[in-house]
Amino acid sequence: MKTGLSAGARALNLRGVLIYPAYLDPPAQAALLADLRAVIAAAPLFAPVTPGAKPMSVRMTAAGRYGWFSDRAGYRYIPTHPDGQPWPAIPETVLAVWRALVSAERMPDCCLVNYYGEAARMGLHQDRDEADFAWPVLSISLGDAALFRVGGTARRDPTESHWLGSGDVAILGGPARLAYHGIDRLRPGSSRLLAEGGRINLTLRVVD
Ligand code: SIN
Ligand code: MN
Repeated sequence: MKTGLSAGARALNLRGVLIYPAYLDPPAQAALLADLRAVIAAAPLFAPVTPGAKPMSVRMTAAGRYGWFSDRAGYRYIPTHPDGQPWPAIPETVLAVWRALVSAERMPDCCLVNYYGEAARMGLHQDRDEADFAWPVLSISLGDAALFRVGGTARRDPTESHWLGSGDVAILGGPARLAYHGIDRLRPGSSRLLAEGGRINLTLRVVD
């Protein structure tokens, strides 16, 4: 069956984070994007604020049983969009990537959708709001390339960087599940996938 996913794909290892370059071919990226447009139409992007009251430069929404959220009260998963509606279902095109690279038994509870405009970035952080770190976090990049930085499990550990391009998949699992990571900057105009420019990153997470 032709899935647009690269079967037997070889991964690069960036401090324990496995990166599958161009895992999704251009038609698979376009199919995923069409499904994400429907998610964003049902659950509009919003701009979270950090617990320290700073607006994040990334805009977010989610699909699945939970969405990740942040405001003055802290970081957490919530069962509805801030407008009160349930999050839309995670598209099958997204679940197919999880099934191929992580598990066919347990599906993720949350597909966080991050939209980066050309000046957006994400500071170094750990993903640690989930209950069971035995499950990896799987990330899919679409659109403009982004400089991804990965360190260790302590904030001051040395870091290494890698440009994530459209269709790349990264997996934070095993000893790298709690690795600090972030996005330093985008390379605006490096992809034509998104008509409006910028980048969409999806992260799939098992929450509880
Ligand atoms: C995240 O850490 O939630 C996003 C990482 C990325 O944008 O590649
Ligand atoms: Mn993260």
